[in-house]
Amino acid sequence: MAAEHLKCKECGAQYALEALYVCERCFGPLEVVYGRPSPADVGEVRRRIQGGPQNIWRYADFLPLAGGPPGPANRRASRTGLPAGCTPLIRADRLARRLGLGEVWVKNDAANPTHSFKDRVVSVAAARARELGYEVLACASTGNLANAVAAQAAALGMESYVFIPADLEEQKVLATGVYGPRLIAVRGSYDEVNRLCTELSGDREWAFVNINLRPYYAEGSKTLSFEIAEQLGWELPDRCVVPVASGSLFTKVAQGFEEWLDLGLVGGQIPRMNGAQAQGCAPIASAFADGQSICRPVRPQTIAKSLAIGDPADGPYALDVARATGGGVDAVSDEEIRAGIALLAETTGIFTETAGGVTAAVLAKLAERGDIGESERVVLFITGDGLKTLDAVRGTFTTTEIEPQAAAFDAAVGAPVGV
Ligand SMILES: Cc1ncc(COP(=O)(O)O)c(C=O)c1O
Repeated sequence: MAAEHLKCKECGAQYALEALYVCERCFGPLEVVYGRPSPADVGEVRRRIQGGPQNIWRYADFLPLAGGPPGPANRRASRTGLPAGCTPLIRADRLARRLGLGEVWVKNDAANPTHSFKDRVVSVAAARARELGYEVLACASTGNLANAVAAQAAALGMESYVFIPADLEEQKVLATGVYGPRLIAVRGSYDEVNRLCTELSGDREWAFVNINLRPYYAEGSKTLSFEIAEQLGWELPDRCVVPVASGSLFTKVAQGFEEWLDLGLVGGQIPRMNGAQAQGCAPIASAFADGQSICRPVRPQTIAKSLAIGDPADGPYALDVARATGGGVDAVSDEEIRAGIALLAETTGIFTETAGGVTAAVLAKLAERGDIGESERVVLFITGDGLKTLDAVRGTFTTTEIEPQAAAFDAAVGAPVGV
């Protein structure tokens, strides 16, 4: 299934597989189109996956490198840089019981090299950037992408320019700067950072992973769906709860499931797709609730900074996916996000950043509303690590401080029974 060309999602105009992202005719976004293997080749595709490396490059058949599987470009990509993927899918029975649900799984994508799913999209964009001859990686980031681009560039020996909003969480700034990028803190929102980078990308020979390389970058998110299907024994879940910022992850996860259904690699039907946003930045959830097909931009104000995109590029497509699959897009308050982080930590042992607090809280909301059937198999997407947003849990528990004596412990916590 080699990548064949780029296609405008709106008017269908075709373009070569270059660093292009917007249609010259109608300004629609571009996406990668692949040649379809014949049904007779499907068994061979499955064997290639099973025999592939323990990272996203086992799905090279569905990724947009020009070499095409199983060519030298893909083999090289799987061995160089910081390979992402093959993260755990954990059955979360205690979480399910707490919410009165039947079967819940947690896809823990914090278990990537820089602790978020962004390593997947950056791996693909960086591999394509190198194929196209770029020597500089760049991005506009809400935090996790900054970590992933700086680290991937360091691993590949590339120069990097990373643009972030100046008010980003300290943990995310530190976990970017350590890799030695040129780190630019912009006094403005993510949307302003993104506009600046779009302007800069016009006259610099840099690979902005989420701007001029966006069609390739976005494809990396499909590997989450492929892994989930493989980890469930080549079956699909009934429902996925996924965090939404620009809407790219959400739409590409659905596309990944669709590609495998179309090919016959899995049976059944596409899972219901539930998007999760913070109330302080919920342009897609609001449009969903109002029955609109486009999103009205908002000025973000939420602790979920990684999801703070007020003008989401893939908003209309995310709305289509939510409606077409019988899912939805919900929003939760900052208080609910904190409760979501605690719920996940206490029932699964997984400490997530605020984006995961958003998905856990939306799962709890869906359960409370009775939207999830008893026999449904649900996958909760955890896309980033709690150590990146420590302020979200500050003050949410108490520590018992004592002198180093048993009597002090007994006095504070209680003496052993029978003493
Ligand atoms: C941890 C985390 N989860 C989810 C997302 C959402 O990604 P998208 O912009 O593809 O919707 C982001 C975006 O930065 C993120 O950092």
